[in-house]
Amino acid sequence: MFSRNLRTAVAGVVLAHPVMNASGILGYLPEHADTMASWGVSAIVSKTFTKEPRKGYDPPIVVKIGCQSLLNAVGLSNPGLDGVGGFVRSARKYGLPVIVSAGGSRPSDFVDVAVAAEEAGASGVELNLSCPHFEGGGIELGRDPAAVFSVVREVASVIRIPVLAKLGLSDRLVSSSSRALEAGARALTLINTVRAMRIDVYSLKPLLSNVYGGLSGRSIHPVAVWAVYSVYRETSADIVGVGGVFTWEDAAELVVAGARAVQVGTALIYRGPRVVQGIVRGLRSWLRAIGRSSIEEVVGAAQRS
Ligand SMILES: Cc1cc2nc3c(=O)[nH]c(=O)nc-3n(C[C@H](O)[C@H](O)[C@H](O)COP(=O)(O)O)c2cc1C
Repeated sequence: MFSRNLRTAVAGVVLAHPVMNASGILGYLPEHADTMASWGVSAIVSKTFTKEPRKGYDPPIVVKIGCQSLLNAVGLSNPGLDGVGGFVRSARKYGLPVIVSAGGSRPSDFVDVAVAAEEAGASGVELNLSCPHFEGGGIELGRDPAAVFSVVREVASVIRIPVLAKLGLSDRLVSSSSRALEAGARALTLINTVRAMRIDVYSLKPLLSNVYGGLSGRSIHPVAVWAVYSVYRETSADIVGVGGVFTWEDAAELVVAGARAVQVGTALIYRGPRVVQGIVRGLRSWLRAIGRSSIEEVVGAAQRS
């Protein structure tokens, strides 16, 4: 019996299997890289670094809600540019590709983080153009195709490692995706959390200190499937699918919608770190069950049906 091949590649970065971690559940301290490597991911993705350090919002910043979902407004807390090198060097000792997430309000902010990532030896930079609770950056940039173009172009013209543009739900997702690719993005990461809020009807106050935040977990999985399917249909781009991946079936669904890899975030909190290995094993059995020899054969297969 021939072995089922889970190897894949995104933006030219070769991955032993399609499952990475999503940015932000952990990941700006050097020791976080050790924990992430122990999960069995095929690439290590950092939390978003910004040029200046950010304290983030006051608690509560993450709340578990129903439907195995989370509402968060962490506020992109991170140590700023000075933290990038230590994280990347720590992650690199595992021999896995390292992707640094970069955030900011102006193109030059993203460039500074991207350059620090490249200098430290990162394999790629994921531009966070989609955080739903980052004033002046995030989804406000990502829902503007012209702004997406200028951020991606500035970064892609300065670094040699591949640029991935992480976009989120908006009415202009497909055009922002196309502009990111025209500007030099080698892949798209879809999607970020979806802007949302909950209110405590006894205290009469929003659950999050920031009032609104981003919804993640199982409740956004169908949104992620739609986003990946729609963007792949229009662009045939390399896509990393993110949103509510808890099981191998969730991962497989994103792959047949058009993703070449997936990221796992909220499931790590609800199911624990073993979720990654379980998804990888399940994908291998799935290929056997459907009589396919490699994951690459089924990328976007739902587009042809
Ligand atoms: C607590 C928390 C922090 C996050 N921080 C970041 C971040 O720093 N940068 C980023 O691009 N996405 C961040 N995200 C979004 C995730 O990377 C991912 O896009 C989203 O949670 C959907 O995937 P999931 O349903 O598997 O969690 C964060 C999500 C959560 C729950």
